[in-house]
Amino acid sequence: MVKISASFLTADFSDLKGQIDQVEKAGVEWLHLDVMDGHFVPNMSFGPMVIRSIRRLTKLYFDAHLMISNPDDYLEAFREAGADGITVHYEASVNLSRTLARIRELGARVGVCLNPSSPLSLLKDILSEVDLVLILTVNPGFGGQEFLSFTLRKIQEAASLIKTVKEDIILEVDGGIDARNIHQVVSAGADIVVAGAAIFNSGRIADNVKLLRRNLPGMERRK
Ligand code: DX5
Ligand code: ZN
Repeated sequence: MVKISASFLTADFSDLKGQIDQVEKAGVEWLHLDVMDGHFVPNMSFGPMVIRSIRRLTKLYFDAHLMISNPDDYLEAFREAGADGITVHYEASVNLSRTLARIRELGARVGVCLNPSSPLSLLKDILSEVDLVLILTVNPGFGGQEFLSFTLRKIQEAASLIKTVKEDIILEVDGGIDARNIHQVVSAGADIVVAGAAIFNSGRIADNVKLLRRNLPGMERRK
């Protein structure tokens, strides 16, 4: 069953509690937490302090996506703040296997992420060390961007590669996913779909989530 991870970046930050309540009521399984440092990506968002505060509000799975340089320096802080899974960028990690081992040691789900222009082959040797692969389908830094369709092939390749290495690795896809393209993304092999603007922009969160689910493969006849 495909899960949805709601990307908090586009939420209304003046009402974090209200937004989280709505996400929970809409039946979303994961909360995707986009951490940006203004260095690895040209934008800043929030860090462990905010995550710790919202941790008290919900039991939702916290899916932390670290778009930061030197992730090693902050892994413990994010785990302590309440991240259930920690995903780092291949492009930001100088000694990736050490970083991944540290995330495992901290007891979090171990994730690695690739930018749209980074080839999948970069992950081949390290795949046995991860629990989750995150394929970015927009350039990192902002919510509400257009899905880059050239990444669809990479999702398919990632799904096949995972089958040959370690079948239980979760394939998560992130960026520009909406009701028009969610079908393609899931058909290509995504297990977890991240959606920000499509969930938090205009309209009610519950309706937006329903619309996404209605467009999943296999739901056609129920429309
Ligand atoms: C991009 C982030 C994404 C993004 C998703 O830097 O990693 O998680 O916020 O939001 P949408 O669905 O609006 O592209
Ligand atoms: Zn993200």
